[in-house]
Amino acid sequence: MKILITEDYEQMSRHAARILASQLTLKPDSVLGLATGGTVTGMYQRLIALHREDGLDFSQAQAFNLDEYLPIAPEDPQSYHTFMQTHLFSQVNFSAGSTHIPNGLAADAEAECRRYEASIEAAGGIDIQVLGIGRNGHIGFNEPDITFEAGTHQVTLDEQTLLDNARFFPSVAAVPKRAISMGIKTIMHARRILLLASGLEKSDAVHRMINGKITPALPASILQLHPDVILVIDRDAAALLPEGLRTSGSVAKEAQHV
Ligand code: GLP
Repeated sequence: MKILITEDYEQMSRHAARILASQLTLKPDSVLGLATGGTVTGMYQRLIALHREDGLDFSQAQAFNLDEYLPIAPEDPQSYHTFMQTHLFSQVNFSAGSTHIPNGLAADAEAECRRYEASIEAAGGIDIQVLGIGRNGHIGFNEPDITFEAGTHQVTLDEQTLLDNARFFPSVAAVPKRAISMGIKTIMHARRILLLASGLEKSDAVHRMINGKITPALPASILQLHPDVILVIDRDAAALLPEGLRTSGSVAKEAQHV
């Protein structure tokens, strides 16, 4: 695991955008795995700026998002379809049909999970997967559990996640209770993983992800087994890490135990 600790959210967003931009520059037809949430919006703003100012080109790339609520209409203001359109897709130059998000209105959600998984495989797999992390250690919508779910699957959202995500909805009751999410195997098959975290409220999950035991009770802990993970986290999110890892700087540090 490479760990890059930044001063703040802005610097985290800039560094993360640069990593994605270099991926796209070196491999213009990259398959990007994308995430939603407050953590990644700053990175998307930077990518939009790089597209407008430096010509960063998305036209040959493909994108697969981690998850979508169930049920939810794509045009619903709180859907992840709308989120991605607003924060990235409508402002850069992905080609038509090259961005993918699970269908939150699928009549047969099981079939939709199989279709989504197959379409990632057909695209050649994910080159770089962007992840945020839930306060409970979830990645995508892989909630704490007693087993790791493998492929794209239906999930019932954790009470904590409903409360955390209620800020995007009129009320907690309005947050859909279910979702479709890439599974742990889907995420672990990505060739590279870029995880972002910001704020003290993520510090416990970040600490347990890096230093705790690997357990489905903290789904992000599985990333200890991935060969190419870059964590870009701000100082607050790193607050519980051992001193040696905590000093901020532009050089990525290797977690000692991995
Ligand atoms: C949501 C998403 C996750 C995201 C997490 C953190 O539940 N499904 O992919 O990582 O929340 O969100 P935020 O960045 O808003 O803290």
